[in-house]
Amino acid sequence: MGKYNFDRIIERKGTDSVKYDLEVSMPHAPKDSLPLWIADMDFACAPKIIEALHKRIDREIFGYSKFSTDAYFGAVCGWFKRRFNWDINREAIVYSPGVVPAFSFLIQMLVEEGEGVIIQKPVYYPFEEKIKANNRKLVNNALKFENNKYVMDYENFEELAKDPNNKLFILCSPHNPVGRVWDEEELRKIVDICRENNLWIISDEIHCDITRKGINHKPLEVVCPDYKDKIITCTAPSKTFNLAGMQLSNIIINNIEIREKWVERIYGAINLHDPNPFAIEAIKTAYNDCEDWLDEVNEYIDDNIDYIENFIKENLPKVKMTKPEGTYLVWLDFREYGLSGKELEEIMVYKAKVLFDEGYIFGVEGDGFERINVAAPRSIIEECMRRIKTGLELVESSSLI
Ligand SMILES: Cc1ncc(COP(=O)(O)O)c(C=O)c1O
Repeated sequence: MGKYNFDRIIERKGTDSVKYDLEVSMPHAPKDSLPLWIADMDFACAPKIIEALHKRIDREIFGYSKFSTDAYFGAVCGWFKRRFNWDINREAIVYSPGVVPAFSFLIQMLVEEGEGVIIQKPVYYPFEEKIKANNRKLVNNALKFENNKYVMDYENFEELAKDPNNKLFILCSPHNPVGRVWDEEELRKIVDICRENNLWIISDEIHCDITRKGINHKPLEVVCPDYKDKIITCTAPSKTFNLAGMQLSNIIINNIEIREKWVERIYGAINLHDPNPFAIEAIKTAYNDCEDWLDEVNEYIDDNIDYIENFIKENLPKVKMTKPEGTYLVWLDFREYGLSGKELEEIMVYKAKVLFDEGYIFGVEGDGFERINVAAPRSIIEECMRRIKTGLELVESSSLI
């Protein structure tokens, strides 16, 4: 038994939660659905964060707040140095209310309308959404599934990178939804191709702290320091410490010209330059004092994943799972049932009454898959797996499959 109790069920309904207050976010869902979709955790934040926020509330005034203090940068840089041996230049850190808004800001700065941005589907769907919403061309280098593992298609990537119209590559590292933590060799290989073709890289490393025991995430900039002027890394405490609603992310831009553009356009023209006082307090405490909480939460997630793996082996032999190396997302393959993505969704939502992220939203490559968020108390995970089993049995017995 660790120091923290991750088994505790915390009622989230009525907290304006996207995941739980479904009348707004998923009005079609049955009232008694079990939500394991959007990527936040059902665990209480680290007690030290709660305590720090209480203390901040007790200061009674919540006026305009600045994040660019020594204490703030010390906390952020200290974290990445300790965990990843990454020496972040504090000058390179810019504020964004989220990683997704940062994609849009950066796409606008790095790529002209009509020019191409390469992504690797199945991938976190806002990559595609924001490329298209900004009138840039979506270019897909689909991941390959080889020897029970998702890998990058370097040959195809090279062809795409050679096209002078393609200017930017967005890397998801660790990769959502397939859970790969790219190793150094894989990262070097892809950067070599980018270097040869002068591509910009956005490396989305928001899931960097959630990894399985024995697996180490490598920041792209640390693996390829000679290319760091063209690498922009998106980081945030959102996934790591369950602080997504705080809306504070740190974007690392080493290139001075792009950083100046950020300052001019985002801080200046849009006037988006400082987070709220609670976010600042939470992030300082998280990065300075909550390492042991993260280590325990990672162990708990490891156990949840083992539980799911065993349950599937014993009860759902037609479902295929490759253990994620990172993220708290499990990517399950239901294709042996021969259902379309929409049919699978109907079964999960209306028969099993579980809410996942449907595989097809990550690209056609995800059709027939479900992405399950397993950052939840074990009893919820157990109930989820029971519901999947019952839902599929119900449908199989009525010979709908
Ligand atoms: C890969 C990836 N990037 C970004 C985000 C969200 O970023 P933000 O909430 O900071 O916009 C998520 C959330 O699930 C994610 O999985």
